Amino acid sequence: MSEVLEVVQAGWILGIETSCDDTAVAVLHDGEIVSSVVRSQTALHAPFGGVVPELAARSHDGEIADVIDEALVTAGRALDSFDAIAVTNGPGLPGSLMVGVATAQGLALASGVALIAVDHMEGHLFAAALEAPVELPAVVLLVSGGHTQIIRVNAPGRYELLGETIDDAAGEAFDKVARLLDLGYPGGPAIERCAVSGDPMSIPFPRGLLHDGLDFSFSGLKTSVRTYLGAHHDAGVGDVAASFQEAVVDVLVRKLERAIDVDVRSIVVGGGVAANASLRQRVSTLGRTKGLAAVLPALGLCTDNAAMIAAAGGFHLAKGEPGLRACDILPGRRLVL
Ligand code: KG4
Ligand code: ZN
Repeated sequence: MSEVLEVVQAGWILGIETSCDDTAVAVLHDGEIVSSVVRSQTALHAPFGGVVPELAARSHDGEIADVIDEALVTAGRALDSFDAIAVTNGPGLPGSLMVGVATAQGLALASGVALIAVDHMEGHLFAAALEAPVELPAVVLLVSGGHTQIIRVNAPGRYELLGETIDDAAGEAFDKVARLLDLGYPGGPAIERCAVSGDPMSIPFPRGLLHDGLDFSFSGLKTSVRTYLGAHHDAGVGDVAASFQEAVVDVLVRKLERAIDVDVRSIVVGGGVAANASLRQRVSTLGRTKGLAAVLPALGLCTDNAAMIAAAGGFHLAKGEPGLRACDILPGRRLVL
């Protein structure tokens, strides 16, 4: 029988996630989400059109105790009854990561509960596993504000990097183009809403590196949108948004398809951009066409949350990894090199 990547029954896990601009804490019991609190800083950063690292760190610092309380009270659970505290220690913004890690270390020390340091991108993968067990080998498209990668999961915890962006991340492209179109922040949901009124085939924006391996490039696409807007002052915003979204989704899905070989049993998507309806639809269709399971995280678990961090932490705990007393932040942490 083939192996499966799944959320394991690892007792009570507290997850803490502060790598970017969401202060998130969750309680997981034997793989089931008991509570999951996400306090978003969107309103704080919106006037700047993107995340301001210093403001993000300060806001995490001000909110984290309250968010932990809310998650614990909702779960009706005291800290010292947990089996592990799982915290994101990278990749992410240094000041933001520091708040989560310092808090988790303090809680672990005070309660005697094991501390587990989780990779944020592995968390995004486990958001899909929270939806359904993933039959392996799987090819996984991880698309967030900071990362765009295709990885292959050969066995639980064994990852292989197949391709990644050489410049902007897919979510970053959404955010930058939304700014060009004055659609606000975060750009992904704003573009998706605006695209509904446009024709995705109206403007043939470029598909970076389409015929070239499994790496991605999105900076040329962003430049192309800017050039188009400069030359077409009467451009319909809906058409631009829809055509841009189509260009991103098209290249993501075609590369994902190329990564599938005869051994592959499932395809998985994770990260904030996995919330995009057009991407979800195309990936589901790809799964059906190839006869493979397409595992997509629940909508609320695509963007940053702590349930996915607790799930990844539970996986490491169940594997027998020892609890840490302390852990460093690793802003440039890479799941696979
Ligand atoms: O995973 P995430 O919450 O944070 C990072 O780890 O970066 O991803 C945030 C990114 C942002 O760039 C946001 O614009 C994008 O995900 N995003 C979307 C959608 N919802 C969020 N992109 C496209 N369509 C969406 N519906
Ligand atoms: Zn993320």
